[in-house]
Amino acid sequence: MKKNLDTFFKPKSIAVVGASKMSTKIGHAALKNILISEYECKLYPINPKEKQILGVKCYAKLSDITGSIDLVLISVPAMIVPQIMNECVQKKVKNVIIISSGFSEIGNYELENEIRKIVDGVKINVLGPNTMGYKNASDGLDASFVFGNPRKGNVAVISQSGALGIGMIYLANNEFVGLSKIIGVGNKLDIDDDDLITYFSRDPETKVMGLYIEAVKDGREFMNSIKDCNKPVLVVKAGISEAGARAAASHTGSMAGSDDIYSAAIKQAGGIRCRDIVELFDMARALAGQPPAQGNRIGIISNGGGLGIMLTDACVVNGLKIPKLSKKTYNKIDRILPDLVKPNNPVDLVADAGFYRYEACTRALLEDPGIDGVIVASVHGGYARPSEFTGAILKMVRERKLHEEFKKPILATWVGGKEFEDIVLDLKTAGVPIYPSTWRTARAMLSLYLEGERIKREKGLD
Ligand code: ACO
Repeated sequence: MKKNLDTFFKPKSIAVVGASKMSTKIGHAALKNILISEYECKLYPINPKEKQILGVKCYAKLSDITGSIDLVLISVPAMIVPQIMNECVQKKVKNVIIISSGFSEIGNYELENEIRKIVDGVKINVLGPNTMGYKNASDGLDASFVFGNPRKGNVAVISQSGALGIGMIYLANNEFVGLSKIIGVGNKLDIDDDDLITYFSRDPETKVMGLYIEAVKDGREFMNSIKDCNKPVLVVKAGISEAGARAAASHTGSMAGSDDIYSAAIKQAGGIRCRDIVELFDMARALAGQPPAQGNRIGIISNGGGLGIMLTDACVVNGLKIPKLSKKTYNKIDRILPDLVKPNNPVDLVADAGFYRYEACTRALLEDPGIDGVIVASVHGGYARPSEFTGAILKMVRERKLHEEFKKPILATWVGGKEFEDIVLDLKTAGVPIYPSTWRTARAMLSLYLEGERIKREKGLD
């Protein structure tokens, strides 16, 4: 039975134990983040020495609050946490986030076990210890102590590392990838990755999940949750090398496990393993905004032969196919291209290609039943007109009818300098999946193909 996390992510009342007037303390930041959230709830700072903090009435202990409490954030030194947890249990609190560090991650298993015993058999969800908490961008609630406002979107991120989780907020913002929720799981005493995958699979605000993990507590549950999930699950698994595994052990007390076994198990369950978090967001951006590919046959268009060849290689190395053009498509493209070149896949539009060649050729490839996805590329060569390339991409990706008609993904690649970068920014803000690397584009296309395969399996079509 998976956890019910409705009141965890959408609490009607929140208490912060260890709330402080001192602006440098974590308990102060946690209270302030909730206070400035655009989220309606009752808020109770808990501190035995204070009457009010940040203008909010303060309580000496949880039992002084008359109403029920959906969520408690704990930010007191580790040694006091068991006492607070006992108070939470007595008060019948539904959910707890233990921000405090000083447990299994530093070898203090006894203290963590003490908390485990306190909640054993009790109906309570516990996040952490050693966690940043979460940011629920869908509902506007920040139940963490860290800075960073995620752009609202449909990617849910689960991170075993708090600091990396914060970094991922900034990275996602920079890449114009919107998040639904981001959560740090810390030492995973209770709420585990599988509980969250199951929750997010039912969350209407989430379309794609991304995980950073160092180890999982229960491999079977983890794999089953991915298997049962009706959405793409992207996984960055760290601690691959011996030295990396040692670092993971001292970071979150994790036993990294065999990398090959993780890879095979994630693949078998239908998840997609990413090499790092940049790749995770590359894939998330494609999956969040594009239809999955129904197969692995990719059409490539570029205005530079070299760029087309590199894309072809990157696709083939990643298991995608670059088929020869059908006679019909060859003839269509032949009419679009200038006389000095003949159609091929990759299609070379020639350096001076403008809006018409890009748009007409992409359409010709989309219309080809032997093509499952299209990559459109531009290099800022001598005659190239980047704004016409980006204009054509923007038109095609925005043209909803095109997606509905063909149900094929379109990704973009570019090679150029500052003036190109500014135009690419416009595309990114419009949600267009465009990448400054042939490799990254091919990997993003691979994720769309794998998602297409997962959906076929889900529907029993393969
Ligand atoms: N009930 C309520 N408040 C209490 C209680 C109690 N029983 N006992 C003490 N307090 C108050 C304290 O008086 C203090 O308030 P004050 O500032 O008014 O005096 C407040 O609670 C906090 O207690 P401190 O002893 O001052 O502890 P401090 O805030 O310095 O540290 C903390 C507590 C933040 C939990 C620390 O022990 C810790 O674990 N820090 C690391 C947290 C962390 O990084 N977590 C991982 C996140 S993931 C990432 O890396 C981003």
